[in-house]
This record gives sequence, C-alpha cells and structure tokens, in this order.
Amino acid sequence: MIQRMEVGDLDRIVDLERLCFSSPWSKDDFLYELNENPFGYYVVLKVENRILAYLGLWMDEERAQITTIGVDPAHRGKGYAKALMEHMLEVCSSRGVKMYSLEVRVSNRSAISLYKRFGFIQVGIRKAYYQDNHEDAYLMIKESEENECVSVQ
Ligand SMILES: CC(C)(COP(=O)(O)OP(=O)(O)OC[C@H]1O[C@@H](n2cnc3c(N)ncnc32)[C@H](O)[C@@H]1OP(=O)(O)O)[C@@H](O)C(=O)NCCC(=O)NCCS
Repeated sequence: MIQRMEVGDLDRIVDLERLCFSSPWSKDDFLYELNENPFGYYVVLKVENRILAYLGLWMDEERAQITTIGVDPAHRGKGYAKALMEHMLEVCSSRGVKMYSLEVRVSNRSAISLYKRFGFIQVGIRKAYYQDNHEDAYLMIKESEENECVSVQ
C-alpha cells in the first residue's frame, strides 16, 4: 500500500535513510518537507503495516524533481522502487507535470538502471555535487509522454 508520508512515520524513515544513504536527511529535514514545503510530496510503501520504502519529490504545475527514493536493504529487488516510481508518475501526470528531473551519484548503478527503465536520460553532469565524497552527479530528465516531440517524415 502506498500512502502519503506522515509525521508519525519519520522515526522509521530516518532509520531507513541511515541504511540507504551515506549523507542521510535528518528528521528536521523531513519535517520541513512535510509541514512547510508547499512543493513537497512524500509517500511511503507499506507491507503489513511496516514501511519498507519511500519516495519524495518537489512538484509544481509543470515540473517534478525526485528528491529521494529508498528501499529497506532487506527488501530490495522485489519491485518496491518500481511501484513507487509508477505511483509518482501517475500522480504527477494527473496534475499536469510535463518534465521530471533528478540527480544521482555516478556510481549508483542500481538507481541509474531504475531511472533509465522509466525513460530518464542523462543530460548533464554536476561536478563534485555530493559534499561527503565530492562525487559527481548525473542530471537525468524525462519528458512526459504528451510532451515528447513526434517527428513526422
Ligand atoms: C535504487 C533502489 C531504490 C532500487 O530499489 P528496489 O526496490 O530494489 O528496486 P526494484 O526491485 O523496484 O527494481 C527496479 C529496477 O531498478 C533497477 N535495479 C534495482 N536493483 C538493481 C541492482 N542491484 N542492479 C542493477 N539494477 C537494479 C533495475 O532496473 C530494476 O528493474 P528490473 O527488476 O526490471 O531489472 C534501492 O537499491 C535503494 O534504496 N538504494 C539506496 C538508495 C538510493 O541509492 N536511492 C537512489 C538515490 S538517487
């Protein structure tokens, strides 16, 4: 079951952040996203009432930027990230989003493969983007299907 993230979820989310990321977000970061950021949209994926995965984005009328996606390491490879991406695309498409973007560490093969599977393409590189180890990021984007150019011969 996928549902909106709530403040009561944050202790579990912060635990998952630590398992998923070398520079995890804090509880305060998520509190800001849930309570104050008008562009924030955060969801959790629950199985038997336990949060196993989550996804966040910033969204306005036309654009969405994926800010985070994480899956409990004990439950990877089960399609949970795919389910969250499908949910995110459905919600964004229903709200008229035309362009999606994200940054991903150049070494993060599983995430890059996930994003490519959903039609994201690499369009740029942000040098030394990550503060912890100065790793580069790929900038990846995806246009909504309605927004793609159709070439007519
Ligand atoms: C990346 C991540 C979200 C994938 O979650 P997941 O639930 O295991 O992914 P799914 O089972 O839904 O797989 C979806 C697709 O992701 C890619 N993928 C997932 N695990 C992969 C792996 N170990 N190697 C290569 N590709 C992988 C594949 O394209 C896969 O599609 P396929 O099953 O048709 O091959 C998860 O590994 C994770 O939480 N990583 C740590 C956090 C992170 O790096 N987030 C991304 C930040 S930009």
